[in-house]
Amino acid sequence: MKTVHVDLGPRSYDVLIGRGLLDKVGELLKGKMKGPIAIISDNSVATLFAQRVEHQLTTIGLQPFRLTVPAGETSKSIEQVTYLLSQMAEKKVPRTGTVIGLGGGVVGDLAGFVAASYLRGVAFVQVPTSLLAMVDSSVGGKTGVNLPEGKNLVGAFYQPKVVIVDLDTLKTLPVREFAAGTAEVIKYGAIKDKALFDRVAKGVKPDDSDLDEIVEKCVAIKARIVEEDEFETKGQRALLNFGHTIGHAIEKATQYKTYLHGEAIALGMRAAAWLSAWQAGLPETEARQIEAALAANHLPLTLKAAIDRDAILSALGNDKKVAADGQNRWVLLDKLGKGTSGREVHLDDVKKAIELLYIPVFYENGVK
Ligand SMILES: NC(=O)c1ccc[n+]([C@@H]2O[C@H](COP(=O)([O-])OP(=O)(O)OC[C@H]3O[C@@H](n4cnc5c(N)ncnc54)[C@H](O)[C@@H]3O)[C@@H](O)[C@H]2O)c1
Ligand SMILES: [Zn+2]
Repeated sequence: MKTVHVDLGPRSYDVLIGRGLLDKVGELLKGKMKGPIAIISDNSVATLFAQRVEHQLTTIGLQPFRLTVPAGETSKSIEQVTYLLSQMAEKKVPRTGTVIGLGGGVVGDLAGFVAASYLRGVAFVQVPTSLLAMVDSSVGGKTGVNLPEGKNLVGAFYQPKVVIVDLDTLKTLPVREFAAGTAEVIKYGAIKDKALFDRVAKGVKPDDSDLDEIVEKCVAIKARIVEEDEFETKGQRALLNFGHTIGHAIEKATQYKTYLHGEAIALGMRAAAWLSAWQAGLPETEARQIEAALAANHLPLTLKAAIDRDAILSALGNDKKVAADGQNRWVLLDKLGKGTSGREVHLDDVKKAIELLYIPVFYENGVK
């Protein structure tokens, strides 16, 4: 098992990464938690894994009970927060109780917010089961839900007490969801770690024997950045947004229906790679290496022709990351493994980068 320590003073915690950890939850949490324990999950994940976690908890004398929501982004809502909080109150969970979030990023964000709000905060444990949740959303303490007016508009910074990553859970994750998670892995490599980038560029699969090292590296990169800028006030955390400016605009312009988050970020990274080549000196060969890495992980490189370029451009104006002066601030790469945030880019180049996303990438061995 690998451990990444997240050093946040009194809010510090460990991220434990390995295989078969679901059947060691009892051992891992023994003496660290008090019951009752609410296991918050979604229907699909609960069916697959909740019983094993419940069994583990009962073996160490804790009483778990299960609360589930439908799978999918629509469950990240105030309505589900109300439902879950009411259930906790009905079960008379005291301040010493614990919430375990078992599932992907949706469950983690929702359960974390419930843990942060119930009785002004009860202990929270993350058990992420999607690749995206393992390498990104379960670490760093951002919790919350969506409003009809927009994504993640309600929330709290609330760190877990521990994160337990069982890589074996990825075996049942739909392949498209797994691929979407690899987009964030490519991101970490691109902004901070050339060796990680080179590894993920070869393609990553759930049963790869070095997946623990890959996830460990991603978590460590996120942990170091979060340690510097826990509440996203200093700018360092912005580095994690490589590919996300255009990616978010694509998600918004397509009403979050066409692409999974990671797929939109893949497109955003392709655009940001070329912006980096034009404005930050990224060698063109490295921009092409990013395209190849996305393709090797079955991520989209080309926008569907029916998507309106102007809708993407106008969505860019509403990105949360627009700076106070109204300029978009971008994360660009100086080279593979070194990203810099807070860069200004010319609107003409942004338009050119979006235009490029309608053009397929040609490889020697065919069209991607
Ligand atoms: N808090 C943060 O810092 C942060 C960072 C990035 C993303 N997010 C949020 O994360 C969410 C997306 O997370 P996600 O991509 O994990 O989506 P998700 O939680 O909806 O999971 C994707 C799908 O996979 C299923 N699933 C999950 N694990 C499974 C498994 N092991 N086997 C079979 N099926 C499984 C789920 O039921 C769901 O249908 C978004 O709401 C996003 O805003 C948060
Ligand atoms: Zn992301």
